[in-house]
Amino acid sequence: MALIIAVDGPAAAGKGTLAKALAAKLGLPHLDTGLLYRAVGRKMILCGLDPAVDDGAAVAAALEPGDLQRTDLRVPEIDQAASNVATQPAVRAALLQRQRDFAKALGGVIDGRDIGTVVFPDAPVKLFVTASARTRALRRHAQLHGDAPLSDEELVRLTSEITERDRKDASRAVSPLRCADDAVRIDTDCLNSAEVLEHALKIVGAR
Ligand code: CDP
Ligand code: CDP
Repeated sequence: MALIIAVDGPAAAGKGTLAKALAAKLGLPHLDTGLLYRAVGRKMILCGLDPAVDDGAAVAAALEPGDLQRTDLRVPEIDQAASNVATQPAVRAALLQRQRDFAKALGGVIDGRDIGTVVFPDAPVKLFVTASARTRALRRHAQLHGDAPLSDEELVRLTSEITERDRKDASRAVSPLRCADDAVRIDTDCLNSAEVLEHALKIVGAR
């Protein structure tokens, strides 16, 4: 069977960076499942629908590859829209088979919130990447704004935005964010991206 590596964790922990690097190193396809929820949220807004209230299942079922390749999916408005549509069971159901089909032929490194718990519960390697909310807020700022200064006020705002999204992701009824019982947890507060990759490769090698 093709190798599947599940990478889960809270917002801005470095899931995508790790998943992409692992996939490149191991010659596997990479799927960032957050983009699916982001694309649904964005399309709903464009259609005049409210992701917090309206049913997004039809939009999710009709997603096209081009919807995922947009550069405007990683903006604060879409962070919120994605986290709202992600609470809808029908949206999650509409995206489930698409995620499984992605890895059918060649396997893959798949990152998100429920990959090791729901999408690929039998994945032979499951990683749960995490860090403190403050570290993650600093990372997201640097990712979006490079070396631009970050005021205390802005750091507090960013940290509370991230904490609130994690709270919502972890407390929803369907597929909440949680570390699978058989996942290896990687605390990355004191590790850079290269060190996280090195650690993850050892875990993959040991399985
Ligand atoms: O990059 P970041 O961690 O900020 O977010 P993301 O991975 O792009 O995911 C955006 C939102 O989509 C998350 O806050 C979740 O609400 C939702 N999501 C989910 O519910 N399940 C997934 N497998 C992936 C994302
Ligand atoms: O996918 P997720 O939202 O979990 O995070 P990401 O977009 O992969 O990473 C957020 C930022 O943290 C990126 O700019 C990474 O370069 C940086 N970073 C990291 O991924 N891992 C570390 N150990 C340190 C920083």
